[in-house]
Amino acid sequence: MINYKTQNELGLMRQAGLALAAVVEDLKAAVQPGVRTREIDKLAQARIRSAGARPGFLGYHGYPNSICISINDEAVHGIPGPRKVVAGDIVSLDLGLVLDGFWADMGCTVPAGQASSEAQRLIRVTDECLQVALQHAQPGGRLGDISAAVQRHAEQNGFSVIRQFVGHGIGRQMHEAPQVPNFGRAGSGPELKPGMTLAIEPMVNQGAPEVYIKPDGWTVCTSDGLLSSYVEHTVAITAQGPQVLTALDAASSGRIAV
Ligand code: MF3
Ligand code: CO
Repeated sequence: MINYKTQNELGLMRQAGLALAAVVEDLKAAVQPGVRTREIDKLAQARIRSAGARPGFLGYHGYPNSICISINDEAVHGIPGPRKVVAGDIVSLDLGLVLDGFWADMGCTVPAGQASSEAQRLIRVTDECLQVALQHAQPGGRLGDISAAVQRHAEQNGFSVIRQFVGHGIGRQMHEAPQVPNFGRAGSGPELKPGMTLAIEPMVNQGAPEVYIKPDGWTVCTSDGLLSSYVEHTVAITAQGPQVLTALDAASSGRIAV
């Protein structure tokens, strides 16, 4: 069942999203060669708490940290630890917080120092996948419009999308209906209606779409060992178009009508 949010609830979710966007901005700056991933986790937890929020991932289904950090062939759900970021790595940050009872979920992939041009292209195309997803997140459309747009953009650029993990509805729970796959058919799936709130998260592989989970039970890696990139925003469908609840400022939160 899809939980449609009221204007008041959307306002609370925007506050959560704004708080998270500010945290992510700080964390991006912390991704530098030599930093240990557990140091980024510590910073994430401190920043979330000082915003008056709760680190949502911590303890979620037993997850041990406040952030997922996934490097190079790690696609998503990497666990912070003693690993040091190396120049040229591409580093995905994925974190969520709960403020006033509502979740925000967001992530991005950034290079540490100078990454290869192919790695940079992968990150850019993944970011573009989220932009085309937003262009298709229109009331009156279908969820499959979003999914198909992401898949098409990734594949047109010679990349692939992960099938085993998907985006999701979000609200008082991190994971609500509906699932938001990064693949599918335009015109299929539930209708996009004002009040829907979706975590849209393109997960794009440099090579084949297959992934496996490491023995730690969390870290998702590409089966071919090639790079993977990811980006995520929490988005509301409004009568005027999509609103990016996790945008850093009002101007970029937009209500993009076509
Ligand atoms: N963004 C991820 C998701 O939507 C985060 C879940 S990781 C966990 O599924 F640690 F919280 F489980
Ligand atoms: Co998510």
